[in-house]
Amino acid sequence: MDIFAHRGVSINYPENTMAAFQAASKLPIAGIELDVHLTADKEVVVIHDETIDRTSNGSGYVKDFTLQQLRTFDFGSWFSREFGDEVIPTLGEVLELFAGTNHRINIELKTDIIAYEGIEALVLKEVAAQQMTERVIISSFNHESLQTISKIAPYIESAALFAEVLVDFPTYIALIPAKALHVSLPTSFRKSVKLALAEGATVRVYTVNEQRDARSLQQLGVQAIFTDDPEKILRALS
Ligand code: G3P
Ligand code: CA
Repeated sequence: MDIFAHRGVSINYPENTMAAFQAASKLPIAGIELDVHLTADKEVVVIHDETIDRTSNGSGYVKDFTLQQLRTFDFGSWFSREFGDEVIPTLGEVLELFAGTNHRINIELKTDIIAYEGIEALVLKEVAAQQMTERVIISSFNHESLQTISKIAPYIESAALFAEVLVDFPTYIALIPAKALHVSLPTSFRKSVKLALAEGATVRVYTVNEQRDARSLQQLGVQAIFTDDPEKILRALS
């Protein structure tokens, strides 16, 4: 079972920062997960929320700032004072960091609340520029974004994110189309997920921070888990 560092090694570093991704790049894990939004000047930036309020010393929507304006904020001190030099990373910077490793990069398009016009094509452009097409997984709770991805780049591995299991997975992912399912931990032991696994679907589970859950999911046969604490999970599975 593969391990992905969720927002980087977010247990020990401020989430979605270069510090969190650098730590992940040194671990023997399958890859990382990150979240992207679009700035006012159409730069793809790595941050979880629509606003910068929770993870920086600023306030406001990502979409209302230019990249240059966003760069003036401190994205580390909210977590710990020692990370006061962390700034918001661009997607390009994170991809460049992993250019020399074998890690996979799961880019989550945060288009479920704000529909960032053109973000799908911009993300694909960044991925192509770094020649990382084969190592990238693009996921979203907004399945229309995945349809856009599959129209522009049908060869990219896309993954439909679900907070709850409400649909017949194999039929649904064929419709999008998506190549994998990313489901939440509470829903991962439901019958529909077991059925999807039995039918050969690729299933990855978020967010798994307890060792006993990781072992149970390994027994269930899921292909990967997302965790804030990859070292703890590595110990559980060794
Ligand atoms: O991609 C899996 C997981 O990250 C989705 O939820 O809120 O952590 O982005 P969230
Ligand atoms: Ca995410």
